[in-house]
Amino acid sequence: MTRLLLGAVLLGYLSDHIAAQVMLPAPSQVMFKSTDYKNVLHWTPPTNSSSLQYKVQWKIYGEPDWLDAESCQGIHKRHCDLSSVTSKTSEWYYARVSAVSALSSSRSAWTLSPRFSPRWDTKITPPSLKASVTQQGIVVQVKASRGLVRKMHRSLLYNVFVIHANKSEEVFEVTCCSNLTLTKMNPRTKYCLQAQTVIPWHVKSSVRSTAKCIKTP
Ligand SMILES: *[C@@H]1O[C@H](CO)[C@@H](O)[C@H](O)[C@H]1NC(C)=O
Ligand SMILES: *[C@@H]1O[C@H](CO)[C@@H](O)[C@H](O)[C@H]1NC(C)=O
Ligand SMILES: *[C@@H]1O[C@H](CO)[C@@H](O)[C@H](O)[C@H]1NC(C)=O
Repeated sequence: MTRLLLGAVLLGYLSDHIAAQVMLPAPSQVMFKSTDYKNVLHWTPPTNSSSLQYKVQWKIYGEPDWLDAESCQGIHKRHCDLSSVTSKTSEWYYARVSAVSALSSSRSAWTLSPRFSPRWDTKITPPSLKASVTQQGIVVQVKASRGLVRKMHRSLLYNVFVIHANKSEEVFEVTCCSNLTLTKMNPRTKYCLQAQTVIPWHVKSSVRSTAKCIKTP
C-alpha cells in the first residue's frame, strides 16, 4: 500500500517534471551552413513568439563536455557564427540550441545538430576574376573571398580556363596570390575566361566563376 502510494507520488512528480520541461517546444532544423570555412549554425524557432531567446553550446566530437558559445547566450537571432570555435578543419563538431522564454521563465530541451566537419562540409565560393589587356598580354587577376585567403593563403590555387572562339579550352594553374599573364594571344580575338578555386590539401574546389570575355586589340 505504502509502496503503491509512493509509486503514485513518484509518477506524479515525474509527469509534472516532464510537463515543465516539454512546455516550451524546442527549436528545429538545427544545422551548420558553411561557406569558405565560415561556419554558422542556423535553426528554426519553435513558435512565432518574438520574445524567445536562444542558448547555443558546441563541442568537439568525442569530447564529453558541452561549452557555451560565448556570444550566443540569450540571443534573439536565429543563427550563431561558430567559426572561431570550429576553426580546426580536421575536427568534427556538434552544436545544440535551446529556446528560453523570458515571459514564462521556461526553457526547451536541446536540439542537436548533425555532426559537422569544416573540411568536408564547407562550400568553396568561386573567385572573382578581372582581366585587362596590357602590352605584355592579357593580365588575369583572380581572388578568392577575403576570409578564404586569410585562412588558406598558401594552400590556395586557382584554375583559369581560357575559352577560345572554337570552344576549345586551355587551363592555367595560378598560385595564390599572383596574376596570370597570357601572352602570344591572337590580335582582334575574343577570349572568354573563367576561374575556379582549388584547395588541393582538402581535395576541394569551387564551381567556376561566370565567364568574363575580353577582346584583344
Ligand atoms: C506564425 O505567424 C504567421 C504569420 O504571421 C501565422 O500565419 C502562423 O499561423 C503563425 N504560426 C504559429 C505557430 O503561431
Ligand atoms: C581552337 O582554337 C585554338 C586557338 O586558336 C587552337 O589552338 C585549337 O587548336 C583549336 N581547336 C580546335 C579543336 O579546332
Ligand atoms: C595584379 O594585377 C592588378 C591589376 O592589373 C594589379 O593592380 C595588381 O597589383 C597585380 N598583383 C600582383 C600580385 O602582381
